[in-house]
Amino acid sequence: MNEYFSIAVDGPSGAGKSSLARRCASAFGFIYVDTGAIYRCVGLAAYRAGIDRKNPEAVAQLLPGLDIKMAYDESGEQCMYLNGENVSREIREPNISLCASDVSAIPQVRAFLLDMQRKIARENNVIMDGRDIGTVVLPQAQLKIFLTASPQARAERRMLELREKGIEQSYEKVLEEIIERDRRDMQRETAPLRQAEDAVLVDTSSIDFQQSFEALCRVISDKLHIEAVGEIK
Ligand code: DC
Repeated sequence: MNEYFSIAVDGPSGAGKSSLARRCASAFGFIYVDTGAIYRCVGLAAYRAGIDRKNPEAVAQLLPGLDIKMAYDESGEQCMYLNGENVSREIREPNISLCASDVSAIPQVRAFLLDMQRKIARENNVIMDGRDIGTVVLPQAQLKIFLTASPQARAERRMLELREKGIEQSYEKVLEEIIERDRRDMQRETAPLRQAEDAVLVDTSSIDFQQSFEALCRVISDKLHIEAVGEIK
């Protein structure tokens, strides 16, 4: 019996999963685990190796040589290390998003990362976000949330997010990439993105960040019978 709480947050890219899950984790004193960042490390490794990222054998050959580590800095921010190098910024580049999407469709990659994700949940109270957390990684999670928003709302948010990081992209280009990633994430054979039957659906298309945060805090308090440690207003 797991003595820790696990909250699974799944949904398409750009729905606000990471910022909301991070904020909820801090409000309830949980550890936030961004599993997309782990897939991004594999995507980056494949990109750097210059291999065909859709070729399962070629990507699988890389896996034994990869040492992927997650650490938290003083502000609680998750940092990713690939073979000892801090790649937290590089994995956010738009071209690495597509590489991550390619390698995440490969069953060997998913199997390779499964233990790492489950181990963190065995040892901590976690809010873990991804695509298959409620359906595959933590099917026993005490709470599953499916967080979504329309592609248009997500594209606008992603564009602003990228701009803040100094990366300029047009709205059309961002929207196109979001639609393409949705298609790949939902149609792949292994662990496709889908809402778990017992997940609570939260659609943030027409509510802002604070409203979404408060909605999630209510769901967490109601379902797990725990209170936020700090202010949620
Ligand atoms: O959440 P993100 O955009 O950082 O995820 C990067 C890619 O990794 C995305 O295309 C989907 C994939 N992914 C996945 O397949 N399973 C997860 N648990 C997390 C991410």
